[in-house]
Amino acid sequence: MINNKIAAQIIAESQFMQDILTGLQASPKFMQAKYFYDRAGDLLFQKIMKLEEYYVTNAEMDILTKQSGKIADLITSENTPFDLIELGAGDATKSIHLLKELSNRKLEFSYMPIDISAGIISQLEDHLPKTLPGLSVIGLNGDYFEMLEKGTTLSSRRKVVLFMGANIGNMDVAEAEDFCSTLRASLTKGDILIIGFDLKKDPKQILAAYNDSHGITAAFNLNLLTRINRELNADFKLEAFEHYPFYDPESGACKSYLISLKSQEVRIGEEALIHFEAYEPVYMEISQKYSLQDIEEMAIATGFQFNQRFFDEHNYFVDAIWTVV
Ligand SMILES: C[S@@+](CC[C@H](N)C(=O)[O-])C[C@H]1O[C@@H](n2cnc3c(N)ncnc32)[C@H](O)[C@@H]1O
Repeated sequence: MINNKIAAQIIAESQFMQDILTGLQASPKFMQAKYFYDRAGDLLFQKIMKLEEYYVTNAEMDILTKQSGKIADLITSENTPFDLIELGAGDATKSIHLLKELSNRKLEFSYMPIDISAGIISQLEDHLPKTLPGLSVIGLNGDYFEMLEKGTTLSSRRKVVLFMGANIGNMDVAEAEDFCSTLRASLTKGDILIIGFDLKKDPKQILAAYNDSHGITAAFNLNLLTRINRELNADFKLEAFEHYPFYDPESGACKSYLISLKSQEVRIGEEALIHFEAYEPVYMEISQKYSLQDIEEMAIATGFQFNQRFFDEHNYFVDAIWTVV
């Protein structure tokens, strides 16, 4: 068991090295947002979610606290056992409201949180059964689809998939469509997807959410350099890079970059020396914003039937309910 764990860790580390080198040797340079979430990244993201400027969490929290009853009605309208699979569960601070609602109904279901962060999964497996006694929690640590496949083979119950927190927004539109089509292929007719989209709104409000005045989002992005230094034996100087977010109201793409503040070389392990030009950008993350029409079209294009929508009080955010057709 321990040997399996060590082997899995070695494979994960070499994949991390490979992905970082691929991104930094490409032109333009990029990093994969899924690597943000080491222990420090998890904590920084939890801080971001509490920021006034980061309206996304409050908006979706408003939906979950006030409308979980109605969402649970939809899930349980077919009165059969099910598995609730959450993709990128994080600390489940929002989904816990739905879990409470479903637990109160004494229905037979298991909660399967999927997350790439091992720390998050063990935290959920430890805390959730204490908060909601009797809740069956099956944590799945790894990448979305690999773990979804594992989750779907664990039982033949119908599936309800949660994909919240605008995680879909961390893909560009084409990637999001591919993602939803692949997800559709792992599911069966009648299964339900509950998916969160951040809506297009005042561009100034969107930009402020990714450029907070406390510098937490900047620290979150720069933390990936700290992680690379530690885990891949690199020598990034954090003060030589700066967080730069940018929102394009036409396409709805809000993109974050780290800008190299000078011409510099960075060593990564024994493997590589990476050259950065002065003011060269490293693309870090996208947070794509959608219109209601974009969302409806995506459901249809990817093999789902658009079912219901739940909005927060300001109409900043929507949790859409799609059914597999
Ligand atoms: C932005 S947080 C959102 C958390 C939660 N869904 C919420 O709404 O509060 C994204 C979460 O997805 C996880 N994640 C990101 N990429 C992933 C991937 N490719 N596979 C599995 N989990 C991933 C991260 O570890 C993180 O906990």
